[in-house]
Amino acid sequence: MAFIRSVIRGVGAHLPKRILSNDDLARLVDTSDAWIRERTGIVQRHIAEEGELTSDLGIAAARQALVRAAIDPIDIDLVVCATSTPDRTFPATAVRIQSGLGVSKGAAFDVQAVCSGFVYALSIADNFLKAGQFKRAVVVGAETFSRILDWKDRSTCVLFGDGAGAVVLEAQAQHGNREERGILATRIRSDGRFEELLYVDGGPGSTKTTGHLRMNGREVFRHAVQKISGVIEETLVMTGYAPDEIDLYVPHQANKRILDGIAQRLGIRPDKVVYTLAKHGNTSAASIPLALNQALEDHRLTEGRLVLMEAMGGGLTWGAALARW
Ligand code: ACO
Repeated sequence: MAFIRSVIRGVGAHLPKRILSNDDLARLVDTSDAWIRERTGIVQRHIAEEGELTSDLGIAAARQALVRAAIDPIDIDLVVCATSTPDRTFPATAVRIQSGLGVSKGAAFDVQAVCSGFVYALSIADNFLKAGQFKRAVVVGAETFSRILDWKDRSTCVLFGDGAGAVVLEAQAQHGNREERGILATRIRSDGRFEELLYVDGGPGSTKTTGHLRMNGREVFRHAVQKISGVIEETLVMTGYAPDEIDLYVPHQANKRILDGIAQRLGIRPDKVVYTLAKHGNTSAASIPLALNQALEDHRLTEGRLVLMEAMGGGLTWGAALARW
């Protein structure tokens, strides 16, 4: 029986030119390169210039993904952008990306799930494609978190960076075999009881301001390993794979200690983990597609590989996706 799967045809990324090192930050707040490296694994992050918007980063990433997919933008009928730092309160940043790509058919909308945004957006696009409603989608994770950081708060401003990544999905009829390419499963979760652990203290409906990111880092850390490991285990059970069958583990890049903790708990070998934290910091919804792009450029992301993606973020929200590349 014919079976539709969303095949990932292309990956792209874009980072702002300006780099802010840990030493640069130590001149702004009471911190040190040693503290940041040791506690997080971060060495530097990219910061958008004044006037360089989330949509600009997203358009550049999406264009590269389309070129690599060898798909003409006019054949795209769905654009989903995961972001918590939209250009404007409305319209959606995805609509700007859509028009920047020269696409005027189908639908474009944003997904707001903070650092889990890319997994959420991938899951939504995959389900639309599998349902037959759209044929080709661009899924973007794009952020300018530098705009919502409190640059006087050392406990948060050292952690985040700006950037964008994108993938191009295409619905393909298959037989449903294990070896065939495409997204095999996605699982998304949230629990609003934990809203106060990680939030932005502003918004159009409450303060009429943009606000700044606030986080109880220790508590977020406490939830991360357990919640992410749980949703990965569900994804593996759904698809019948064992952790040692994963070829590449592409996690959301929040903290090296979280990534290592999950890999250790599930028994994923360190050489299978993709780390971009050192160069990018935490780019929220952009971090997974940026890491996919890094793996591609390092020749680690090749056809046929079993790729596990996961994230947790404000909400709390969390999720995982498993794909045969
Ligand atoms: N430089 C130097 N010292 C610092 C800094 C800094 N940048 N930040 C905090 N400290 C100090 C604290 O004040 C504290 O000092 P004290 O002991 O005198 O009170 C000490 O360092 C330890 O602070 P902790 O918060 O306990 O440090 P911890 O080891 O937990 O590391 C961190 C903090 C890195 C934030 C960690 O908790 C973490 O990564 N948590 C998870 C965060 C996360 O994943 N966030 C992203 C979620 S995704 C999203 O949706 C955005």
